[in-house]
Amino acid sequence: MTDVRRWALVTGASSGLGADYARQLAERGWNLVLTARRRDRLDALADEIGRTHRAEVVVVDGDLGDAGFRDRLVQEATAGRKLHMVVNNAGFGWQGDFLDTAWSRWSAMLTLNIVALTDLSWRLGAHMRDHGEAAHLVNVASIGAWQPVPTFAVYAATKSYVRDFSEAIAFELGGRALRVTCVCPGGTATEFMDQAGIKLSKLSALSLQTSPAVVRESLDAVLGGRRLIVTGWLNKLMTFGTRFAPRWLAARLAALSMKPAA
Ligand SMILES: NC(=O)c1ccc[n+]([C@@H]2O[C@H](COP(=O)([O-])OP(=O)(O)OC[C@H]3O[C@@H](n4cnc5c(N)ncnc54)[C@H](OP(=O)(O)O)[C@@H]3O)[C@@H](O)[C@H]2O)c1
Repeated sequence: MTDVRRWALVTGASSGLGADYARQLAERGWNLVLTARRRDRLDALADEIGRTHRAEVVVVDGDLGDAGFRDRLVQEATAGRKLHMVVNNAGFGWQGDFLDTAWSRWSAMLTLNIVALTDLSWRLGAHMRDHGEAAHLVNVASIGAWQPVPTFAVYAATKSYVRDFSEAIAFELGGRALRVTCVCPGGTATEFMDQAGIKLSKLSALSLQTSPAVVRESLDAVLGGRRLIVTGWLNKLMTFGTRFAPRWLAARLAALSMKPAA
């Protein structure tokens, strides 16, 4: 019997949302190319998916901040196969005042959240447009894209870039078989908060969405051809609210929401 499963590439698949994109795409009938730096995590996930679903999984480990690795990833991901979905999910944040944080951290964040995502969108977007079959480019931003966020300034600005960039290229591609979706989660229970040095209050911790719920809602939106999805009703309400607040007020409220827990 011919395998009619299509192939999706998921970046940042070693934890959190990326691992759940991999699980849920396999469940929905996709084969997978998974990438991140932690090989052991990717191998364990590939094993788990192989056992629970009939999916084929290819693992390509490396640092997306490295242009040479991105060359290799594109080459290996497209060697002898067509991709029909690319999920640009890898990203990280850091909470700290701009001038008091080492430049190397901001530079790595700009490279991963913006340069790597744009590079993969360009190369793999062309690959998916050129094969002419229905395909999806999925770029993960954040509700941080809706306003300036003091102490999270660089991260939020990278996500504003992802949102504007994704919506603009979705417009350019309008009517083609390749669709672009920008996914904007709010606080989600993954390794992200710890990696970003964020200490959540008990109340904020309670308001986090689960990673499987965010992924389920976003994949429904992607496969339904939506250009933008804010996950979770509270996040939808908050982002809608920013339309009516002046930018200084939105920034002040965002600063309050980022106040570390006592
Ligand atoms: N969790 C939230 O509250 C939240 C809210 C809004 C948006 N988001 C966005 O959602 C996306 C996924 O985050 P998450 O919550 O799932 O966080 P996470 O659990 O920390 O996962 C981040 C993933 O990115 C990978 N990664 C980090 N640096 C990398 C690099 N240099 N090269 C390759 N892979 C790298 C990590 O793998 P390795 O360490 O193995 O490389 C990991 O698989 C991010 O873009 C984040 O900005 C998260």
